Amino acid sequence: MTARRILITGSTDGIGLRASRRLAAGGNRVLVHGRSPARVEGVVRTLEEAGGEVAGLVADLSHPQEAAALARRVVTEQGGVDVLVNNAGVFLTARPRTPEGLDRRFAVNTIAPWLITRELLPHLPADGRVVNVASAAQRPVDLEALAGRRPLADDFEAYAQSKLALIMWTNHLAALRGREPILLSVNPGSLLDTRMVREAFGRARRSAEEGARVLEQAALDAAFARPGAYFDGDRGRFAPPHRDALDPVRCARVAETIEVLRERLGIPARP
Ligand SMILES: NC(=O)c1ccc[n+]([C@@H]2O[C@H](COP(=O)([O-])OP(=O)(O)OC[C@H]3O[C@@H](n4cnc5c(N)ncnc54)[C@H](OP(=O)(O)O)[C@@H]3O)[C@@H](O)[C@H]2O)c1
Repeated sequence: MTARRILITGSTDGIGLRASRRLAAGGNRVLVHGRSPARVEGVVRTLEEAGGEVAGLVADLSHPQEAAALARRVVTEQGGVDVLVNNAGVFLTARPRTPEGLDRRFAVNTIAPWLITRELLPHLPADGRVVNVASAAQRPVDLEALAGRRPLADDFEAYAQSKLALIMWTNHLAALRGREPILLSVNPGSLLDTRMVREAFGRARRSAEEGARVLEQAALDAAFARPGAYFDGDRGRFAPPHRDALDPVRCARVAETIEVLRERLGIPARP
């Protein structure tokens, strides 16, 4: 397989870190991303020492402006990518609201991936791919909460809504774009042994490496070249997501809500 240029957000820890290692070891050029300059630098150094071709990018994805700027830098400073893996995610947080008034789960898990994807889409090659890392946790999306107009009291509710919203806008864009590039969602598997899971549940059921393998396959394998598909890592196969993600009208409403928010935040529109 020809080497690909791959951006994996949230690759300073968990399954993103492990997927970066696997992809770099396979000869791909990997753009490592995180919010801590020291952690990004540490991962870049380790992967380079192992012979990988890597570069690092820093951005706090809880701030929509930083998410959009990150994607612009991928184009202007790194010459673009073939594959985008929107992996960075947050579940528990001491500060649920961002300075922009958004729930941090929506900001990092739903809105930042949208802004990065929209910014990179015109630059992705026809055989490019966008892999959105979702979850088995999926709850109907409260559009008022997504827009930052209603707080969500429960961490699991916020996380599960943010992940279903991610699958919904993925399906919306996939229906518009077809195969150029392919956009799909994956649940990497539940209760993988990562910091997020240990903090939220205190126990894990499967190794983080299993989730990393799903990301690697989703980024590269021909079997994952399925626009608008949802791969369920718990079942090891493609499966239907929550029924709301199969409703084009509901999916379009999620995308529209984020677009209105983008405008409100003064982030330029993309085609
Ligand atoms: N683990 C599971 O069982 C499981 C199951 C289903 C889905 N997932 C999904 O898989 C993805 C990876 O999760 P994980 O379990 O590997 O979690 P993790 O170990 O906590 O890693 C999360 C990654 O996202 C980054 N991140 C978090 N907030 C960020 C922000 N505001 N800006 C930029 N980067 C940020 C973290 O950076 P720092 O190193 O700076 O914190 C870290 O690199 C997430 O989308 C998660 O929802 C995980």
